[in-house]
Amino acid sequence: MKGLILAGGSGTRLRPITHTGAKQLVPVANTPILFYGLQHMADAGIEQVGMIVGDTADEIRAAVGDGSRWGLRVTYLPQEAPLGLAHAVLIARDFLGDDDFVMYLGDNLLRDGITSFVEEFTQHRKDTSGVPASAQILLAPVPDPQRFGVAELGPDGEVVALLEKPEIPPSDLALVGVYLFDPSIHEAVRAINPSDRGELEITDAIQWLLDNGHRVRHEILRGWWLDTGKLTPLLEANRLILEVLEPAVHGKVDEHSKVEGRVVVAEGAEIIRSTIRGPVAIGANTRIVDSYIGPFSSVDADCEVIASELEHSIVLANSRVENVPRVIDSLIGRHAVVQRSHQRPRATRLLVGDHCQIDIDS
Ligand code: DAU
Repeated sequence: MKGLILAGGSGTRLRPITHTGAKQLVPVANTPILFYGLQHMADAGIEQVGMIVGDTADEIRAAVGDGSRWGLRVTYLPQEAPLGLAHAVLIARDFLGDDDFVMYLGDNLLRDGITSFVEEFTQHRKDTSGVPASAQILLAPVPDPQRFGVAELGPDGEVVALLEKPEIPPSDLALVGVYLFDPSIHEAVRAINPSDRGELEITDAIQWLLDNGHRVRHEILRGWWLDTGKLTPLLEANRLILEVLEPAVHGKVDEHSKVEGRVVVAEGAEIIRSTIRGPVAIGANTRIVDSYIGPFSSVDADCEVIASELEHSIVLANSRVENVPRVIDSLIGRHAVVQRSHQRPRATRLLVGDHCQIDIDS
């Protein structure tokens, strides 16, 4: 079984805070979203991964490299424009050959990974008693199905139709961004036409399979899942990931500091005269001095938090927070400085980037 990760598409609206155009590289709990997908592939026993890349290819390549960090072999497959998820399968034809594969949308985040989903399909394909399915999809009930691909189930519970972002959804079952296919999908993606939005839709390709006598299995997802491309508030994604992070303290914690609960302190980080109350992730080489870092916070690598209090907040790499009594519900970008100064006249001095929001204490 091979893997296909879709990390193409255009840049993100989060560009001002991430300094990266690739939405798949936005960090959640100090780890780019895409890395969770790579880890899930490796956990499921996949070794070869094709990575669809678009105009942010350089950033993705720089971050992921050859994939050996995850024990994977990553082959980059450039897509000239985001012409659709089925178009991505079309251009991956040579890489995929006649293998079964798992396709993973690089901006999706699944709590429980994909191992059991992949195992189900492999087991099912080995079972020779019934008609083998050509595809397997993952469905999750959502409150706003019109923003997703939606499945319609027939009276016997089998998938009978799939619709991409329907105005009137036939059910509340959204397609999660993980799909399993056998090689018949290649015929399907060649047979379909672009949709009204000009994309070759994977939902149409799966519908083609159904219309041409193929079986499409489905599973219902139990753990949470986020389509971060829908600009799910980063703080929420961060909170969900922090809640399931394995605690580990690799950095230094001095004897005047307290580390409580689910806390990750990365290599080279230092906690000095401070309290860290988890769930919290502190990135590599970050210094926390005379400070309090409260629940659901992530401070990425190479930051300094000095004489400050931070809670339910994200600080991206290379930033400094100094002498600020209480920062909550905040997102601080890269190379940012937030500080209390003693400059006169007393005033709030701001250098604020595009699309930012600042709430000042009354
Ligand atoms: O997240 C689940 C949803 O993902 C499904 O419910 C929908 O059926 C499916 O079409 C997809 O919808 P989105 O509108 O969220 O897809 P998006 O354009 O955000 O693309 C998903 C990922 O695939 C993202 O990492 C970018 C990448 N991509 C997208 C396109 C259109 C490519 O690599 N190439 C492309 O041509």
